[in-house]
Amino acid sequence: MDRVKALQSQLVNHLANEAKSIGETAPFNLYQPIDYTLNMGGKRLRPVMVLLANELFGGKAEDVMNAALAIEIFHNFTLLHDDIMDKADVRRNKPAVHKKYSENIAILSGDAMSIMAYRYLVKNKAEKLPEIISLFTETAIEVCEGQQYDMDFENRLDVTAEEYLEMIRLKTAVLLACSFKIGALAANADEADAENIYQFGINLGLAFQLQDDLLDVYADQDKFGKRIGGDIVANKKTYLLINALKLAEGEEQQKLMQWLQKETFDEAEKIAAVKAIYQTTGVKEICEKSIQEYYDKALKSLEEIQVPNEQKTELFILAKTIMEREH
Ligand code: IPE
Ligand code: IPE
Ligand code: MG
Ligand code: MG
Ligand code: MG
Repeated sequence: MDRVKALQSQLVNHLANEAKSIGETAPFNLYQPIDYTLNMGGKRLRPVMVLLANELFGGKAEDVMNAALAIEIFHNFTLLHDDIMDKADVRRNKPAVHKKYSENIAILSGDAMSIMAYRYLVKNKAEKLPEIISLFTETAIEVCEGQQYDMDFENRLDVTAEEYLEMIRLKTAVLLACSFKIGALAANADEADAENIYQFGINLGLAFQLQDDLLDVYADQDKFGKRIGGDIVANKKTYLLINALKLAEGEEQQKLMQWLQKETFDEAEKIAAVKAIYQTTGVKEICEKSIQEYYDKALKSLEEIQVPNEQKTELFILAKTIMEREH
């Protein structure tokens, strides 16, 4: 874990320097929100994934630092737009950009960040840079597809578990997988290893988003840094809700359907009512079981990488800390 912490602090230093110079540029209403976003905390998981995967295959942190920054800036861009789309006012325990500044500012600063990510990515000197750029581009498009499914599903009552899993693969898992694979490609890992570390990221990413949906209902708000119950208010088709719709019977099922169809309601009342149905249908446990299954699958892919297991210690630890996260 010390190595993870060391890489994290190296990354945070670089990010803070970049954010500072971005924030000093005019027009300030475009650039200051970027500085604000990049300095508002966050776990920095994805850039650390780039750095750790790169190290696993013998690369040096300074050679992939710009790629790591690119991934983190891209991720933060998605959060700016996601918070507008999800009507979420609090992020990392601070006002979301669209609240602190305005919606228009959050849109445009987000756009600039998504392009800036390329500015950092192409600074990479890796032999496999064309492959890295193409992977990043396809991933960015997939994230948009996932985000659109997420929005579309708010208005549907017949979303299946399969559809949900594909949606979270796209909106969340592919970016984690891409982070690992970029690190691996930059260190010239062979194709089989690059694919295994990608699959490690996909399965870890599925577990991560399932966990995020669970935390959205059951976390401690101060630790989570986001408003609890937001997914319930927005009728997000999470694994919890999809299973509750399947398992609730009779009067309880009717009640759940009514809550999902109400246009005006007291938010706290809806959150409490839906949570009560989650309790009686036992969907929290179903979700936890699924998280464990994806986590186990992830570890299998990690084990298959043709590098001695003792060199993977940091990646095993990172995966474990992600699973134990409270924010
Ligand atoms: C939030 O990602 C968006 C999801 C995919 C759930 P993180 O939980 O990694 O957010 P930060 O960067 O640590 O705040
Ligand atoms: C986030 O899903 C996925 C992306 C931002 C691409 P969520 O909407 O669940 O993320 P949070 O909970 O707002 O961080
Ligand atoms: Mg959101
Ligand atoms: Mg969202
Ligand atoms: Mg969430």
